[in-house]
Amino acid sequence: MLPKTSASAADIRRYYNQNTRLFLSLSGSARTQSIHRAVWAPGVRSLDAALDYTHGLVLAQAEHLLASHHLESLKLVDLGCGVGGSLAYLLARLKQPALGVGLTISPLQAHIARRRLEPPACILEADFHSVPLAAGFDLAYAIESFVHASQPERFLSEAARLLRPGGRLVIGDDFLAEQAALGMDAAQAGWLKTYQDGWFAPNVTTAQTVKKMAIASGLTPIWEVDLTPHLRLRALPDRLARLLLWAGERLPLKHAILPSMLGSMALQQCLHMGLVRYCFLVFQKSG
Ligand SMILES: C[S@@+](CC[C@H](N)C(=O)[O-])C[C@H]1O[C@@H](n2cnc3c(N)ncnc32)[C@H](O)[C@@H]1O
Repeated sequence: MLPKTSASAADIRRYYNQNTRLFLSLSGSARTQSIHRAVWAPGVRSLDAALDYTHGLVLAQAEHLLASHHLESLKLVDLGCGVGGSLAYLLARLKQPALGVGLTISPLQAHIARRRLEPPACILEADFHSVPLAAGFDLAYAIESFVHASQPERFLSEAARLLRPGGRLVIGDDFLAEQAALGMDAAQAGWLKTYQDGWFAPNVTTAQTVKKMAIASGLTPIWEVDLTPHLRLRALPDRLARLLLWAGERLPLKHAILPSMLGSMALQQCLHMGLVRYCFLVFQKSG
């Protein structure tokens, strides 16, 4: 039986309102303004480059669309944009004119992003399950936001609605390993639940399940990469991690950074044990 985590939009909004400034200062992402993992692929030498690695994957999709569809401009939508670091990266590098819209559930993130980004970037405080935008985007992407979807089918059907035929969706996130979906022992299930509860991440499911849901929304899976081998894991010996979890759960600190830190530790254990994989999936809208 897989652990079940629930997280409402209000929970996730509060989580990011309380933690965003700390995430930005603790992660060393002052320049990239990203709230996602560093990927130390071969050739990556600095933290900025490791944080930009996933941006590069999205940029490659944007450039492919521009070249193969002979587009004169590109419309991008970031479904869970944080403080706009990915939009800033993409808009600065695309050679053709581009319009970028970012969505975040957190008013604080929207405020920070709007102070940094100028038109043609536009930031909306909105829910990606029900996007207040008309169709016609060439590229939609979600970096480490899909795990927060309480209704993943709805997320995918909204992404499909926003894209024009031939447009692409990139999802980069944690996925449950196929093996883990078949069965976990109690300790493994405990780490997974601590990660999901601490990060308000109800949607950790297998890539296979996501692909099936995407196909039902008219999105064809076209590419996939597992970046887990390029993460610098900081897993602890299991007993020590359990002791820290026990102590952390009893600390009188009420700030939302505490469950987030315990969630981070649990995620490291999950990645180390092979329960979770950090992957990027690309889909294309039919037609
Ligand atoms: C881990 S942060 C990633 C931010 C950004 N993609 C990045 O890489 O820096 C997750 C993001 O998902 C957003 N998010 C979570 N649930 C959302 C929802 N229902 N609608 C819109 N955004 C959501 C959060 O507001 C936050 O910006």
